[in-house]
Formats: sequence, structure tokens, C-alpha cells
Amino acid sequence: MDIQNLLEDIVGAVQPHVGQGKVADYIPQLGAVDPHQFGISLVTREGEVFSAGDAHVEFSIQSISKVFALALVLAADGDHIWKRVFREPSGNPFNSLVQLESEEGIPRNPFINAGAIVVTDRLLSLTGDAAKAVRELMRQETSKESIDTDHVVASSELGKGHRNASLAHFLASCGNLENPVDDVLDSYAKQCALAMNCEDLALATRFLASNGLGSDGTLVLSPAQTKRINAVMLTCGTYDAAGEFAYRVGLPGKSGVGGGIVAVVPNKCSISVWSPGLGRSGNSVAGVAALDEFTTRTGWSVF
Ligand code: DON
Repeated sequence: MDIQNLLEDIVGAVQPHVGQGKVADYIPQLGAVDPHQFGISLVTREGEVFSAGDAHVEFSIQSISKVFALALVLAADGDHIWKRVFREPSGNPFNSLVQLESEEGIPRNPFINAGAIVVTDRLLSLTGDAAKAVRELMRQETSKESIDTDHVVASSELGKGHRNASLAHFLASCGNLENPVDDVLDSYAKQCALAMNCEDLALATRFLASNGLGSDGTLVLSPAQTKRINAVMLTCGTYDAAGEFAYRVGLPGKSGVGGGIVAVVPNKCSISVWSPGLGRSGNSVAGVAALDEFTTRTGWSVF
């Protein structure tokens, strides 16, 4: 298969969707991004890299960071986190408050905000600096030392983060945070505000397509943990649109409100797409369309 040609074809095919949806505007830095952009990168499990469109434009990775925080916690701490977070789809928006009270402070899964805040809390306990740990994993897997948090985005997010603050305080009231609320929220905002491009993200996600094997030949995760994280991405990675994403794309995937999505074809390749216009559930409209096009044309899905 000529992967480079395929990606270029997909850039053309998704053009009608580029600019559709609504750019996240809860902070000005995200609201100011030009919606008429689309990028795609693919990295094979052997490490070959293919990119097309705006694949080298940096964007805010936002919730995509939740996958990497979870990977670090699973690697360091095994299954302990599952006593504090469930792994069922929520069927609710990513920042919803409703289930947390009726389910006594145990978030439905590690990819909704409440669950990711618990994962970040654990990573903070394990490392002393959760955002730095996520950043270092990104740097290690991409060999790109310049990857960093956009501190303007992080502090803007903290200023507007009333929902996340309420989730974190509720978690603390249930005894499900180990660290002070403000420290956890600070780490969470900084990990979300990492600035990366499609190529970086596809490289960073490659270990999920290679049974956990990282770029330096050592395991980031065991093969069993890799299988499990991919399963949670499939069922929970795109929130209340996870069913639709599985139907259309048929791959484990994780989105962010910056318009990025990473997806994994187990044992074959990792893919990253980016286009800022979001659908109702906070997933990139053109990004989902591109991944749909990709799996439909190649047959590379888990189904
Ligand atoms: O915590 C938040 O709400 C944002 N920093 C991230 C949300 C997000 O990316 C959801 N993804 N689609």
C-alpha cells in the first residue's frame, strides 16, 4: 500500500468537513485557532513516518494527554488505579458532574475529566510532577526535546476551570484524591496544555500499536496493559460519541478539544489527525471523517 498517497488522498477527501463544527472557545487561545486546517500522520510499528496536510502545525493536545498519564500510572503502579476509577463508558459529556455523586466519587472511566483528575493525582503522588512525567514520555517517544506545555493555555484554563475544580473538590470530599486539589488541577491543566503536532502525537502513540514497545526498544507498557488501555480508548476515548466512533472508525481512539485525535491499529500503526472544528461531543468533525475514510479504504480496523 502507498501510505503517503493514501494520506494525501484523505486530505483531499475530507476537505468538505474541514471548518465544520465549532472550535472550542472556553479559553481565548483555543477560540483563536483557524478552523480551516487539517493534518494527518501515520507511524508504522516499525517506525516509518508518513504525514500530509497541516501535520506539522502545533496544537493543544488537551484530553489526548489522558492516555499518556494513564499509561504512566499503569506502568508504575499496576492495577491499583482501578480501585479509584471504573472503566465503563459514561454516556455523558466529558466534563459532566452528574454521575460522580450517585457513584460515590468513583469516576466512570479514566478519560472523562473526573477520571483523568484521579489519574493525574496518582501520577503526582508517584512522580512529584505529573505534567513533567507526561511531557518526558512525549519527548522520549518523539526524540523531540522542544515539546512543552503552553503556559498561557494552562493558566487560562486554570482561570476558567470551575467545572474541573468542582469535580476535584467533590473527589476530595469522597476521599478519592491524595494531593491538594490545587496541585492536582495545576498538573492536569499543564498536561492538557502540551503543544504538539500530528507527527509528534503519532510517534508518541506508537507504543500502543507495538504491544507496549517504546522508541528506545524498552517496554513503556506490558503487552497485556497495552491491550487494556486500547480497550478503554475504544469504549471511552470519545466520550458520549464512543459508540458512533466505534461504528464509523472501528479503532481505539482518543480525542481532545484542541481538535486532535490519536488512533491505534494494534500491531500495525498509530495515526494522528487534527482539525479544530468539533462536533457536539467535543471530537474533531474532520478528524473523525478522516479516520472513517482511512479504515474504510484500508480495512485496517479492529473489526
Ligand atoms: O479539562 C478540560 O475540560 C480540557 N482541558 C480538556 C477537555 C478535552 O479535551 C475533552 N476532549 N474532547
